[in-house]
Amino acid sequence: MPLSKMSPLLIKAKNEGYAVGSFSVANMEMVLGVLKAIEETKSPAIIQIAEVRLKQSPLEVIGPLMVAAAKNAGVPVAVHFDHGKTEEKIRQALDIGFTSVMFDGSHLPFEENCAFTSKIKQIAAEYDADCEGEIGCVGGSEDGSENIAINCTSPVQARDFAKASGVDALAVAIGNAHGNYKQAPNLRFDILEQTASLVDVPLVLHGGTGILPDDFRKCISLGIHKINIATATFDSVEASVKKTYEQGGINGYYDLQAAEVQGAYENAMKHIEIFGCAGKA
Ligand code: 13P
Repeated sequence: MPLSKMSPLLIKAKNEGYAVGSFSVANMEMVLGVLKAIEETKSPAIIQIAEVRLKQSPLEVIGPLMVAAAKNAGVPVAVHFDHGKTEEKIRQALDIGFTSVMFDGSHLPFEENCAFTSKIKQIAAEYDADCEGEIGCVGGSEDGSENIAINCTSPVQARDFAKASGVDALAVAIGNAHGNYKQAPNLRFDILEQTASLVDVPLVLHGGTGILPDDFRKCISLGIHKINIATATFDSVEASVKKTYEQGGINGYYDLQAAEVQGAYENAMKHIEIFGCAGKA
């Protein structure tokens, strides 16, 4: 049951009408917080790290930790390499035992995005792992270092891209962006609906932080079955530590550690409830 490929989790979610949370993690405390939430609620989940975050959390250190945590979990957990930019790091993640990788060629011309993503799909297949691609441009960037403009997915291009690249999951751009929104986004549900009618593989929503619960639910009803959450986890961990300090609850390192785990746990619990994946493990 524990370490799982991504595709069976997403296919079950698509068949049963819910979404699997894909939680970004930066350290052991975040991994432990997510695991506690998914075990308690009997939810499947994905834990992930993006290539841009490796300067803070080196892949050779955090990668084995993520895989070990998934192997020891009481519920199915996929370990995903998010926003892969280079073949070198994608291969390193696969060597460590990640069960899926994303190649983010969304900024490339269609043909190049297709060609690179197909190549990564073949490499992933050598490891019996899954591959996610992206078509259209989700706004911002995973670590806030680039201000990438939103470019909504063309449903017809999404269909052609999914067929040509053979991806197992496809990230779409429907007005969503990474990081905290200044105000809740106006998502293009019409584009999502058209895309879902043309594409068979499960669709992925990036930029989950700050999307309203009802908008999440509508996205799920229209074909989103993997939802990426990063900033909300980091913010929740920071807020939990701050609050616990203010309440005088931190007297030594292990109180600080517990507050971090608690922040990641609370954030995962909130999203599990919205995504409808509790009890689906
Ligand atoms: P947020 O930081 O907005 O939650 O986005 C996460 C994400 O899409 C990671 O790929």
